[in-house]
Amino acid sequence: MTTVHLARTLSFRDDPAIAGPTAVVFRERGAVVVGDDGRIAFAGAASDLPEEHRAAPVIDHGRALLTPGFVDTHLHFPQWRMLAAPGRDLLEWLERFTFREEARYADRIHAEMNAEIFLDRLVENGTTSAAVYSSSHAVACDALFAAAEKRGMAIATGKTLMDRACPETLRDDPERGIAESAALIGHWHGRGRARYVVTPRFAVTSTETQLRLAGELVRDHPTVLMQTHLSESAREIETVRALFPRAASYTDVYDRFGLLGPRSLFGHAIHLDEAECARLSQTGSVVVHCPTSNCFLGSGLFDIGRLCDPDRPVRLGLATDIGGGTSWSMLATQGRAIEVARLVGAELDATRAFWLATLGNARALGLEAEIGALEPGRFADMVVIDPRATPVLAARDDLSESLEDLLFALAILGDERAVRSTWIAGRLAHEKPQQPETAR
Ligand code: GUN
Ligand code: ZN
Repeated sequence: MTTVHLARTLSFRDDPAIAGPTAVVFRERGAVVVGDDGRIAFAGAASDLPEEHRAAPVIDHGRALLTPGFVDTHLHFPQWRMLAAPGRDLLEWLERFTFREEARYADRIHAEMNAEIFLDRLVENGTTSAAVYSSSHAVACDALFAAAEKRGMAIATGKTLMDRACPETLRDDPERGIAESAALIGHWHGRGRARYVVTPRFAVTSTETQLRLAGELVRDHPTVLMQTHLSESAREIETVRALFPRAASYTDVYDRFGLLGPRSLFGHAIHLDEAECARLSQTGSVVVHCPTSNCFLGSGLFDIGRLCDPDRPVRLGLATDIGGGTSWSMLATQGRAIEVARLVGAELDATRAFWLATLGNARALGLEAEIGALEPGRFADMVVIDPRATPVLAARDDLSESLEDLLFALAILGDERAVRSTWIAGRLAHEKPQQPETAR
């Protein structure tokens, strides 16, 4: 049934840092009409609601903010139970907790049960789409795709490829890993809203043969995505240098195997030299900023200003990196990204952070035509955010004088408590138990 949503609506046409204020579409009293097909039929001022929709049922969100659902461009399904697992750095954290936890996903029942909980966590945080690392077991990847399909969610995921430097229970071999990935592509890629991501974990856990075959698989399937980790942590970078002595840099390791390009997502990418930035820019590769994870694991400070150098801009994504990341919330993730930008002397305002979490991330996944904005034809993947969800937010909201002020408070103070409801293809996917509006 066609439904009209009324709210303060916020959407983007482009990156506000580049395109300027016309990139931001904010309406104090906006209307979004969702058609039977789960797509947006109209988005505009409530006063301009077309005649044909005037008799449709209305859901009035009042002063809450209606925005495109958040898109998370990097997180790990089999790590969702291990947030805040200690480790001195990335490699210790992987060896001590992560690999052990991921090994449990060899079991289909465990994977199926956890896929539901994983997607519950996403929607309660207002995240409607994501690029997800599954474990190295094809059954876990299959379970996640199946659970997402039941909910009508656009999830991109792939079986993690690892053929060395990990426990036997997680290790594949190059041929088997690629054969399993190809079978999953055949079954899932482009089926409904599912997308496959070829997922070599990182250069530490893949041999040259595996990276080469992964590059060939990406080349042979021109619409699949690719995701891996790049230049995150000091000991990891040293290890890659020792493993690939002929490569000019960490980025060059992937470049040699055809893994750079506009469909490629590189998580972290903190410690890059100029040549690496230039090459990532030239190939249209995406670098995914994972600020809570980078802080938690002590990996380093991502310099968003440097990556966005107009002479060689690198495409950006923003992500939670659960479970290296410490929050599921793309609001909290924006807040941490803002704080990290301040620490490196770069500029990131909340309006741009919000763009990154919505249209920017949709663009990073090549899904801009389908999601990421409140525009006719896009799927009605939406989130309703209450800027007065807690007493602290409400008090702060009283001081806001602009949209940037409002978004800034949500980024710095917000999390799942601010998510009032989440909608996937126009259907209610999550609703916070009703609470009275916080008193002033
Ligand atoms: N590098 C290789 N694997 C991982 C992982 O699971 N998390 C993070 N943060 N970095 C990685
Ligand atoms: Zn990761």
